[in-house]
Amino acid sequence: MRNLIVLILVLCSFRVPISQGRPRLSLVLKCKQSAGFNLYAQGTTKMCLYLGQENKTYVEAKADCTSRNSRLAVLNTLEKYQIVEPMSNVWIGLDDSVTEGTYRWADGSILDLQSELKKKIFYPGEPNAAYELEDCVCNYCFMNRPKLFDSPCGDTYRYLCEKVI
Ligand SMILES: *[C@@H]1O[C@H](CO)[C@@H](O)[C@H](O)[C@H]1NC(C)=O
Repeated sequence: MRNLIVLILVLCSFRVPISQGRPRLSLVLKCKQSAGFNLYAQGTTKMCLYLGQENKTYVEAKADCTSRNSRLAVLNTLEKYQIVEPMSNVWIGLDDSVTEGTYRWADGSILDLQSELKKKIFYPGEPNAAYELEDCVCNYCFMNRPKLFDSPCGDTYRYLCEKVI
């Protein structure tokens, strides 16, 4: 009986190479090494995110992400946006604070406002730079409507930090 169990275990280990399961598991563990961060997936896209529950201004939220060795979340693909889409009243890492009208992700790259991606992730007509005060971007944060909006950076929302792992 014991031999049979050993044989089955040996056969199983051939059928499912252990190494196949390892990268995904190690990514989960790597993400969880930082308190409060969790791995989210959409298709093959994975993001290691921390959802800050305290309401903070954009600058405060950004500083909190930095203190957690992370940055405000960069959602530069549709899959990444879809991970975040249901999370309401959160700052993400996108603003035009440096140059009005030029929206930069938290990694320094620029969002092309003519792109299909922009049309898919922003609420229609946004960003609208209302009153020239709305420089920072939040998700699902106006009139209980999903998608991205620009909002005054001094407003307070929850926030999403992203750890690049
Ligand atoms: C954050 O603000 C929202 C909207 O004003 C409020 O409903 C929520 O209770 C606040 N959360 C905390 C943790 O203060």
